[in-house]
Formats: sequence, C-alpha cells, structure tokens
Amino acid sequence: MEARSQLRHRPTRLQLTHYSTRMDREQAWEILCEFTKSESLRKHALAVETCMRAYARHYGEDEEKWGVTGLLHDFDWEVHPTLPDHPVKGEPILAGRGVSAEMRRAILSHADFTGVPRETRMEKALFACDELAGFLTAISYVKPKRSIHEVDVASVKKKMKDKAFARAVNRADIVNGAAEMGVELEEHVGFCIRAMQERAEELGLKGTA
Ligand SMILES: [Fe+2]
Ligand SMILES: [Fe+2]
Repeated sequence: MEARSQLRHRPTRLQLTHYSTRMDREQAWEILCEFTKSESLRKHALAVETCMRAYARHYGEDEEKWGVTGLLHDFDWEVHPTLPDHPVKGEPILAGRGVSAEMRRAILSHADFTGVPRETRMEKALFACDELAGFLTAISYVKPKRSIHEVDVASVKKKMKDKAFARAVNRADIVNGAAEMGVELEEHVGFCIRAMQERAEELGLKGTA
C-alpha cells in the first residue's frame, strides 16, 4: 500500500513510465467507469474479472494481468453498441490509456468477427469466461433468493437446454470456450460458479435473506 502511494508522488516522468508499462486494477476500474455507466455492465465486467483471476491463480499465471483484461473486455460496449465497433474501435482508446498490446489483443480476440485468433491461454480463458459469466448471472437472478449460491452445475446444464431462457447468451460460445481451453464443460462451469460465489457480494449476487 505504501509502495503504491509513493509511486503516485514520484515525478511525472516516472509516473508516465509506470503507466505505459503496467496497467493496475485501479486504473482499469477508472477506465471502465468512465466509459460504462450501466450498473449491470459493470457487474458483468466484475464477473468476468472474477473468473479470470481465479483461472490465473489456478494456472499460476499473472492474476493482475488476467483480471484487468477481464475487467476491460467490454469497456466500450456503451459507446460502441454495434459490432464490430466493439471492440475494434475501443482498442485504440485502450492503447492511448497505456493498456498493453497483449491485453488489447486478448480483448480483440474475444469477438470472433475481429479475425484475431485466440492463441494464448489468457485469450482462451477470456472467451470461455465471458458468455458463461453472463449466463451464471442470469440464472442467479431467476433463483428464489437471486443468489449465485443457489446455482449449481446441474441447473446450468438444464438452462443451457432451455432455449427460451436468456436468449442473448450464445450456448455454443460456452461449449466452445471450454473446449478451446481444453477443460470439460462441467468442470469449467463448476469452476466459474465457485469463483463467483467467492465474490458474490461485490457481484450483487449474494442474494436476499
Ligand atoms: Fe464483448
Ligand atoms: Fe462480455
């Protein structure tokens, strides 16, 4: 904590160097909030961040980098509500804010139509977590207590077959996302449920008493 506050008070030149090489969570949250006013879209960003962080820990990868990538993946959805403006036109904005090429590439790759293939583990995880996180949130909302703690793998599989439920969620993306990552679908679903349960309060999914 002290190290971080010292960083803020260093001379401007050093601050810029820091900013251009490392995007920390606080900066990413500020960017998200600047471009995204919708509470539900911010919650979606937090949910994807949550799953990405859990996977980064699981694989021994860079949790901050994976988390920030998840947090920012839809940052421009409100200003670019049509495809392919999102995320293509958002990418240079992120570049201007000091988001690394690696993170920007991952963000571009979460949308199939950008033509940016998913190659790294982080890119595959982002795609796999994006649609699923939205689906788990939607299922939580129809549970009696509107809680992620009421969601389990069986209920997710059932809802995946229910075409009338949460039509906007692409089931194929969920299935393909797990396959691209090389994990079993059930395992992936269970992993993300547990990750979101651990952060239920912040995600607004703790449920009513
Ligand atoms: Fe997106
Ligand atoms: Fe998303």
